Amino acid sequence: MTVSHATTDPLYGRLRRATGRRSTVLDVGAGPGRFALALAPHVAAVTAVDPSGAMLDICRRRARRGGLANVACVQGRWEEVDVEGADVAFSSYVLPLIANAPRFLAKLDAAAGERAFLYLGAFSLDAVLDPLWRHFHGRPRRPGPTYLDAVDVLKELGLRPEVEVVEVPSRTRFRTVAEAARDYREQLLVPDTPEARRELRELLASWLVPRDGALGPPLKTTPAAIISWRPHGGA
Ligand SMILES: C[S@@+](CC[C@H](N)C(=O)[O-])C[C@H]1O[C@@H](n2cnc3c(N)ncnc32)[C@H](O)[C@@H]1O
Repeated sequence: MTVSHATTDPLYGRLRRATGRRSTVLDVGAGPGRFALALAPHVAAVTAVDPSGAMLDICRRRARRGGLANVACVQGRWEEVDVEGADVAFSSYVLPLIANAPRFLAKLDAAAGERAFLYLGAFSLDAVLDPLWRHFHGRPRRPGPTYLDAVDVLKELGLRPEVEVVEVPSRTRFRTVAEAARDYREQLLVPDTPEARRELRELLASWLVPRDGALGPPLKTTPAAIISWRPHGGA
């Protein structure tokens, strides 16, 4: 993940429009700082929150190398950290990892002064992985929550979310089929036996396609939802 990926991403454009030189920004679940670092040169201050020390180390290192003195990294789960609010608060590709979405979103709302953004995949990965899932489990997978559920939660919190569905280039790349198999084995809950691992590698060898000198899933772009709202505390 690099900063250049962020600047070509549709969310980046929306965040730039919502912020200015004097804005403070909060990136919840920032990971290695894809958006936090890309925004930092254009705003007053960015706080990147993430429970992963390894991710924040990358973010800090990149900030140092980029001479970005206005990026603060705070380690912890969003539900538990104590950080100051910001003009704009956003969270990108984090909500599916969160057990209590209403609590997470209410805190995101409370932390935002002017605008809050939530970025989520707008398609079910199962739609793509279905043939592989059925191969191992013999039936379709129970569908998980979607971005529409997040919209409902925000409405239940009394907010008025706006939704824009955008296309994002698929960034998943694997150097080898074996690397892909390790990743998909967990996603597909494939038993950890030599036979099942071999079957998965065989299936992936015909399913993955060459991309940028590596291998990727057979999707050039995937839809994503930019959900944004004026926070309760907002002007
Ligand atoms: C898929 S990455 C997204 C990273 C980044 N936002 C982006 O879009 O490139 C998900 C991130 O959410 C973080 N995360 C997981 N649980 C979290 C929580 N409870 N609070 C904040 N971040 C969390 C993970 O550590 C990980 O860095």
